Amino acid sequence: MIEIEARLSELRALGLHQRIRLVSGPQGPHVVLDGKPVLLLCSDNCLGLADHPRVREAAAEAAMRWGVGAGASRLASGTMTVHRRLEERLAGFLRRESALLFGSGFLAAAGVISALARPGDVVFSDALNHAALIDGCRLSRAEVFVYGHADPEHLAWGLAHAQGRAALIATNAVFSLAGDAAPLEDIVELAQRHRVRVLVDESHGLGSVGPGGRGALAERGLEDQVDVILGTLGGALGSYGAFAACDRVMTQYLLQAARTLAFSSAPAPPAVAGALAALALLEDRPRLVDKLHVNAVALRDGLIAEGFDLPRARTHILAVALGEPEPVLRMAEGALARGVFAQAVVPPATHGPASCLRLTTMATHRAEELRAAAPVLAEAARSAGVDPRATSPAVPRQGEYEDEPPEPYAYEAERAGPYDYEQIAHAA
Ligand SMILES: Cc1ncc(COP(=O)(O)O)c(C=O)c1O
Repeated sequence: MIEIEARLSELRALGLHQRIRLVSGPQGPHVVLDGKPVLLLCSDNCLGLADHPRVREAAAEAAMRWGVGAGASRLASGTMTVHRRLEERLAGFLRRESALLFGSGFLAAAGVISALARPGDVVFSDALNHAALIDGCRLSRAEVFVYGHADPEHLAWGLAHAQGRAALIATNAVFSLAGDAAPLEDIVELAQRHRVRVLVDESHGLGSVGPGGRGALAERGLEDQVDVILGTLGGALGSYGAFAACDRVMTQYLLQAARTLAFSSAPAPPAVAGALAALALLEDRPRLVDKLHVNAVALRDGLIAEGFDLPRARTHILAVALGEPEPVLRMAEGALARGVFAQAVVPPATHGPASCLRLTTMATHRAEELRAAAPVLAEAARSAGVDPRATSPAVPRQGEYEDEPPEPYAYEAERAGPYDYEQIAHAA
C-alpha cells in the first residue's frame, strides 16, 4: 500500500511538491493571483476565447435553455440537440464526415485508444506524447512501443518488428511541451505501408496552426488520411470537453466501444454551447490565429535577445530547458515575484534532467507586454542561478538508438510506481 504521508514528504524533500495557485476572476491574458495581477504565460486558452463575451453569453443562454448538466451518458439518456450541433460544426471545420463529443481530452484519448487496441496488439506511441495518450495506451492493455520523439526511423523499425500485431500509431500533432510538430507525412506513409490505424491528437494544433487554425494535419492536407483526430475543447475553444473526428463508421463504432463515452456523463450543455460560439468566432476571425503567431514571435525574439537558446517559434508554445527541476522551480517563483506567471514543467510531467519552463502566448496578449516579459524572465533565471546563455531548447531526444535499437516492447506499465520519476513521464 502506498504510504501517503511518506510520499508527500518525499515530494517536498525533492522540491517537487507543486503548489497550485488560486486565481480570482477569469483566465484572461492577465490573472489576479493572491490579490496581485500577473501576466499569464501558462494557459492553453491560446485564442483568449474562454471569457469572450459571445462565448460567455452562449454558455449562459444554454444553461437557461438546456440546464447545467446532461444528466447521464448519451447511451443512457440520449444525445441532446446541442451536442449534435457542435458535432456537426466540428466535423465541417475539420473536413471529416462526423465528430463525437467526449467529456474531456483525457477521456477521449482513453476511450478511443482502448477501443482501437486490445491485448495482443501493439500500439506505437511517440516518447513525448501527452499523458492522455500515454494513459489511453495503458488502458488498452496492448503492448506499447514507445518510439523516439518525432523519429520516423525508429517507428519504422518498430512496425517492421511487430509481427503483424501493429494496431495503432498514436501521436500528438503539436507537442505539449515545446510546441514542435510530429512528422505527420512520414507517419501517414508508414501507417499506409503497414496497414495500421493512426490517431492524431490536435489539442495544441487546433486554433494555432494550419489554414484558419484547423490544425497541423490540415496544414499538410492530411486531415482525411488518418483514422481519428482528437482534440480538447479546453484549449483554443476556451471551454471544456473534447471530440474525436473521423468517418461515420468509426463514429458508430466508438459510440458502442468507447467506454469513457458510454459510462460517463455527456458534456454539459453550457460548455458545449460555449465551444460552439468559440468555434464560430474562430471561423469568422482567422486573424486571431495570426495574432497568436505575432505574439509568439514577439516573446521568442525577446527571449533570444536576452540570450536564451530557443528554436524558431512554430506555435504559441515555447520551452526553455534548464535541466534539473530545482532551478526551474526557482525561476518560476522568481518570475512570479516579478509579475510573470509561467509553468515549471518538472517530474512527473517530464523526466528529471529535462525540466523546463514552459511559456504559452495568447492572441489576447499585447506584443509589447510579451517583449517586456523577456528581460523579466532573464532576470528571474539569473536570480535562480541560471545564465540564460547556458539554457538549451527543450527539444526532444531524437534517434537515440544506433545499430541496436532498444527493446521494442520496453513499455512496461506495471514496473513503475507513481513516484518513480525516471519512468513516470511515459512508463508510470
Ligand atoms: C495533447 C493533449 N491531449 C489531451 C489533453 C487533455 O485534454 P483535456 O484537458 O480536455 O482533458 C491535453 C490537455 O492539455 C493535451 O495537451
